[in-house]
Amino acid sequence: MVTTNDKTLSTDGFHGMIGQGKAMSEVYRLTEQVAKSSATVLLTGETGTGKELIARAIHDLSPRSSGPFIRVNCGALSESLLESELFGHVKGAFTSANENRTGRFEAAHGGTIFLDEINSVSFHLQVKLLRVLQEHEFERVGDTRTVRVDCRFIAATNCDLLTEIEEGNFREDLYYRLNVVPIYLPSLSERTEDIPDLVNFFLKNYAEQEKKTTLQPLQATLDMLKTYSWPGNVRELQNYIERAVVLTDGNELKVEMLPPHVRGMAPVRIGKSRKTDLSSLCKELVSRGFNEFQNSKNGLHPEIVSMVEKELILQMLKMCQGTQTKTATRLGINRNTLHKKIEDYGLQSEAR
Ligand SMILES: Nc1ncnc2c1ncn2[C@@H]1O[C@H](COP(=O)(O)OP(=O)(O)O)[C@@H](O)[C@H]1O
Ligand SMILES: [Mg+2]
Repeated sequence: MVTTNDKTLSTDGFHGMIGQGKAMSEVYRLTEQVAKSSATVLLTGETGTGKELIARAIHDLSPRSSGPFIRVNCGALSESLLESELFGHVKGAFTSANENRTGRFEAAHGGTIFLDEINSVSFHLQVKLLRVLQEHEFERVGDTRTVRVDCRFIAATNCDLLTEIEEGNFREDLYYRLNVVPIYLPSLSERTEDIPDLVNFFLKNYAEQEKKTTLQPLQATLDMLKTYSWPGNVRELQNYIERAVVLTDGNELKVEMLPPHVRGMAPVRIGKSRKTDLSSLCKELVSRGFNEFQNSKNGLHPEIVSMVEKELILQMLKMCQGTQTKTATRLGINRNTLHKKIEDYGLQSEAR
């Protein structure tokens, strides 16, 4: 059995990971390859794509598998709490430090430390982390004695660290130390071929958990699931399947058992407010257009359409961290078309 964040599901697939498509096969191949070494790994990808599962798989497949696997969610703690959580402290180091405490780096000695949401670490702590990564040594908070640790580092981020560097939030030297072997976890919308296997896997697991018969997914349901955008990725899919299993006593997973927004029927309120926003935006563009584009050779309609198109591509590129394949898939346009538009609109620096 593997224990995930909130549920215990039976072991299946690659170390509990389902999906045999091209994108995930490449992830498994890299994982197996890197696990043998002691190289630092940087896991990137949106939330819910399986970064934590891969971090565990790397540890389990490594020569350190009998040692500890320690996960620290760097995004969940304030700077000072995270500092003492990672490095430990000595009695009296600060007001509430009533006794000595070893930190998570020491706990990970002989094993692996997984620094999740590394992008949330403050600049000050980034300096300390850099030293641990480079020298494998540090001092507990309030102590002068140096502690040495032997542990393997895995870090994860759900935002683009290069943008964070540009914005002055993340140290470039730490980034290069972390990014020895990068593994990108594809979003669910980039690997829709894996959706049927994932659906069946979760249907079976939640049926076992709920002591119910396993629902059979209808083809129409699978087709519908493949067209949704999945901002919450596998975690979101898992939640909807659990909900469907809990609320049904039938034998089939039908389209109606999915939340309305997945079926393309967003709640009326959202629909309304979107429409209002769009019409006021168009109103403004039209009145601006009258003055600004009166004399342009292209005319009002093409000018406004390309303004909107440029902005749309720009926003989607940002959301997809500059990945063109993903941007094209999400926009529903051909990759070559996107490439040409990026050049036409001069958006090369936002794309990679
Ligand atoms: N390929 C997969 N197969 C089965 N379950 C998955 C897969 N990827 C993610 N999950 C499940 O989705 C949830 C989110 O995964 P997690 O590793 O925590 O993602 P992340 O760390 O990227 O946010 C977990 O419950 C995990 O078990
Ligand atoms: Mg996570």
